[in-house]
Amino acid sequence: MGYSIAIDGPAGAGKSTIAKRIAKSLSFVYVDTGAMYRAIALHLIRQGVPPGDSDLIGKVCQEADITIRYQDKEQQVLLNAENVTGLIRTEEVGNMASASSVNPKVRLKLVELQRALAAGADVVMDGRDIGTYVLPDAFLKIYLTASVKTRANRRYLELQKKGIPCDLAQITEDIEERDHRDMTREFAPLKQAEDAVLVDTSSMNIEEVADQILKLYKEKR
Ligand code: C5P
Repeated sequence: MGYSIAIDGPAGAGKSTIAKRIAKSLSFVYVDTGAMYRAIALHLIRQGVPPGDSDLIGKVCQEADITIRYQDKEQQVLLNAENVTGLIRTEEVGNMASASSVNPKVRLKLVELQRALAAGADVVMDGRDIGTYVLPDAFLKIYLTASVKTRANRRYLELQKKGIPCDLAQITEDIEERDHRDMTREFAPLKQAEDAVLVDTSSMNIEEVADQILKLYKEKR
């Protein structure tokens, strides 16, 4: 993982869009760690585990075998050998992922997989604890953020475009709740690593953000 890039930040900051672009531009492997938490969440939902039952979450998550494969350079996530890539983008799964990722057993299960992927290739990995915990020696660390208002608006427009009914006030509330959970959990909380560069995307478009990160990378190499 000589030149791997860690991109962390809160929900809706644009991490995955940016990380994908950077990976493509540098011919690195893109690793979406949120998808892994979502796949475990899907398993928990299917098993009927309530989001507040941390003992049961710790137990049932052990039955979820998560693997990653790449098809046409796109990451696919497998849950007990089933390709669940297309099933994990719902709000229900997102909410369960947010609640269950607080659990250290869930996190410890995935960190091995994440480190193994970075050991095998230069990666652009996005998540919440990549620069602080998963890859503390990443070549470049970015903390990508934007105001709650901007992130909620982006999410609202995205859902509207897909024709999914939604409510801006509700989205704002959800984002605030997820931020709070990610930032205040005991084990590997979301925070800017000391050596991470802060990029606030509130008044930037995708192109500008990607260009800035690529510039930082090239200056450092
Ligand atoms: O990024 P995404 O929304 O797909 O992540 C789903 C949930 O998984 C987040 O709300 C977050 O709580 C959790 N997560 C995490 N650590 C990561 C990636 C995601 O806790 N590295």
